[in-house]
Amino acid sequence: MDHFQLLDGVLHAEDVPLTLIAEEAGTPVYVYSTATIERHVRVFKEALAGLDDPLIAFAVKANPNKAVLATLAAMGLGADVVSGGELMRARAAGMPAAKVVFSGVGKTADEMALALREGIGQFNLESLPEADMLSKVATALGVEATVVFRINPAVDAGTHSKISTGRSEDKFGVPYDRALDAYAHAAALPGLRPRGVAVHIGSQLTDLAPSRAAFEKIGALIGELRRAGHVIDTADLGGGLGVPYNPAVPVPPSPAAYGAMVQEVTQGWNVRLIFEPGRVIVGNAGVLLTRVVRVKDGVESPFVIVDAGMNDLLRPSLYDAWHDIRAIVPRGEKFVANIVGPICETGDTFARGRTMDVVEEGDLVAFMTAGAYGATMASTYNSRGLTPEVMVSGNKWALVRERQPLEALVAGDRLPPWIEESA
Ligand code: LLP
Repeated sequence: MDHFQLLDGVLHAEDVPLTLIAEEAGTPVYVYSTATIERHVRVFKEALAGLDDPLIAFAVKANPNKAVLATLAAMGLGADVVSGGELMRARAAGMPAAKVVFSGVGKTADEMALALREGIGQFNLESLPEADMLSKVATALGVEATVVFRINPAVDAGTHSKISTGRSEDKFGVPYDRALDAYAHAAALPGLRPRGVAVHIGSQLTDLAPSRAAFEKIGALIGELRRAGHVIDTADLGGGLGVPYNPAVPVPPSPAAYGAMVQEVTQGWNVRLIFEPGRVIVGNAGVLLTRVVRVKDGVESPFVIVDAGMNDLLRPSLYDAWHDIRAIVPRGEKFVANIVGPICETGDTFARGRTMDVVEEGDLVAFMTAGAYGATMASTYNSRGLTPEVMVSGNKWALVRERQPLEALVAGDRLPPWIEESA
C-alpha cells in the first residue's frame, strides 16, 4: 500500500499535488512519501514481532538519499552497506555504526580500514582472500573485526538472472560445502572474530520456497559449525522480498508471510537474526515524475516522449522491468503507446505497446514504484544532470537532493597540458 492517490482528479503524494511539485521543482524529479516508508517499516517490524530483538539493516543501495536514511534511522533501522560511500551516507544520516553490516565481494583495504575506524557491527565476508586482507588491516589498526561468512547456498531464487545471487556459479559468497574450511581458516587469523553466517539469494523474490530452502541449509550449517567448535550467535538472512510492480500479475508474498516462514525455519537456532531489506521498504514509496515533451506518431502506436530517460530510471532498460505509468491529471481515456525517453538509443524505452492514460504534450506522468533502485542508479549519460529528489510528509514537501546543474557536469573536466598549451 502506498500514499499516492487521486484527489479531485490530481495524483497526490500524501496531501501534496504532484502538479505543484512539478511546477516548483521541475521535471524529471523523484518524489518520496514519508508515510509510505514509515508504513512499510512498521509492517516489516510487525512481521518479525515474534523474533528476539532482530536487527533490520536497510540495504542502502536501494535508496541512499540522506532524508530517506534519516527517516529509517529515526525508526531504529541500521544499514547494510557495500561501499565506503554507503557507509559514510549511513553514518551521516544518523545510523549508529554498531547497526551497520558491510556486504560485498570487493571491499578494498581502504574501505575495510574506514569501516573499522567507524566501529561497524559486522563484516559479511565473501571469500578467504577477503578474510586474509581484513585480518591484516584489523591487525595493523590494532582492532578486532567481527565477521560472518556469506554462504552461497546453491539455490536458484527464480528471479531475473541479473539480480539472482545464490546460484553456485554466481560471484557471491563462499560455496556451501566449503563453509567449514572458511570458518577454520578465519578462526586461525589474528584480528578476526567469526560470529555467524549470512545468506542473500537475490532480489525481487516472488516465491518464498527458494528462501526457505536456503535458510534450511543455513540452519543445518549452524549446527555443523557449532559442532566444529565455532561460536555462532548471529544469522543474517539478507533481503530480497519482492514488491508489486505490475497490477496484472500476482502480488509477491507479504512481509507477514515471509516473517512467519522465517520464524518457523529459524526456530531453535538460538541466534540474533539480521535482515537486509531494501526494495520492500522503499520501492512503493517513490515515483519518478516526468513531463511529456511531445507525442510522435509511430507505425503501430504513438511514441510518448518524456523528459526522463534511462539515465534517470535504468530498470526498464536493464532488466525489462515493468513500472506502472499514470497520468497525474488523467483525462479519463486510455490509449496504447510506447513510452520513451530522450536518450539516443533504442534501449531508452520505458514501455512498448502499453495501455495507459491518454496524454498530450505538456502533461505530467509518473513512473510508479520507483523508490528503490531508481535515483540511486541514475547516471549523467548523454550529459544530463542527475535527477533531483523531493520528500513529502503530509502537506509538507522539501527538495532533499538538488538537480545537478549543467555547470557541474563540466566543472570536473581537465585538459591535459598538451592540449591546453596549444589552445
Ligand atoms: N543484501 C544484499 C547483500 C544485497 O545484495 C541486496 C541487493 C539486498 C540485501 C537488498 O535486496 P532487496 O531487499 O532490495 O531485494 N538494481 C536491481 C536490484 C539489485 C539488488 C542488489 N542487491 C533492481 O533494480 O532490481
